[in-house]
Amino acid sequence: MEIVNMRRLIATIMLIFHVHGLLQEKNLSLIETTCRHTQNYKLCIHTLLANRGSIHANETGLGLIMVDAVKAKAKETLYQIYKLKAFRPKMRAALNQCTIQYKLILEIDVPVAVDSLNKGVPQYARDNMADSSLQAVFCEGNFHGESPITQLTNEVRDLCIVARDVIPVYL
Ligand SMILES: *[C@@H]1O[C@H](CO)[C@@H](O)[C@H](O)[C@H]1NC(C)=O
Ligand SMILES: *[C@@H]1O[C@H](CO)[C@@H](O)[C@H](O)[C@H]1NC(C)=O
Repeated sequence: MEIVNMRRLIATIMLIFHVHGLLQEKNLSLIETTCRHTQNYKLCIHTLLANRGSIHANETGLGLIMVDAVKAKAKETLYQIYKLKAFRPKMRAALNQCTIQYKLILEIDVPVAVDSLNKGVPQYARDNMADSSLQAVFCEGNFHGESPITQLTNEVRDLCIVARDVIPVYL
C-alpha cells in the first residue's frame, strides 16, 4: 500500500514537472492566436495540445494537425457505423447512407484538404472541411431524431468547423 502510494506521488510530481517544462518550452502564442479565430476555442486548444507536433508547427502544420484529428474521429465513427449495421437491421438504410457520407469525408475531403495545404491552396482545404461538417450533419439527419451515434457525429461536425477556421485563407 505504502509503496503504491509513493509511486503515485512520484508519478504525479513527475507529471507536474513535465507539463510545466513543456509549457515553458512551447511557443504557445501561435496556437493561442490560431484558436482565437475559431468558434470553439476550447476544442481547438484541446485538440492541438494533444498533438506534440503542434509545439513547433507553423500555420500550415496546425491546419494539417486539425485535419488529422478530423480523420481520426471520422474513422472512429465509421467503425462504429459498421458495428451498428450488424446489430441494428432496422437502421440499415440510415447506416448505409452514413457509410457513404463518412467515406466521402475520409476518401475525398480529408486527402484533398491535406493536399491543398501542402500545395499552399488553403481555400480548398477550408472548403473541404466545411463539406465534411455538412456530411456529418447529413448523417445525423438520416436517423430522424433516433441516431445512435449523435455524440460522435456532433464531435466530427465540431472538429470539422474548427479545422475550417484554423486554416487561414492566405498563408
Ligand atoms: C512564437 O511564434 C510567433 C508566431 O509564429 C512569433 O511571432 C514569436 O516570435 C514566437 N515567439 C517565440 C518566443 O519564439
Ligand atoms: C510549414 O509547415 C509545413 C508542414 O509542416 C512545411 O512543409 C513547411 O515547409 C513550413 N513552412 C515554412 C515556411 O517553414
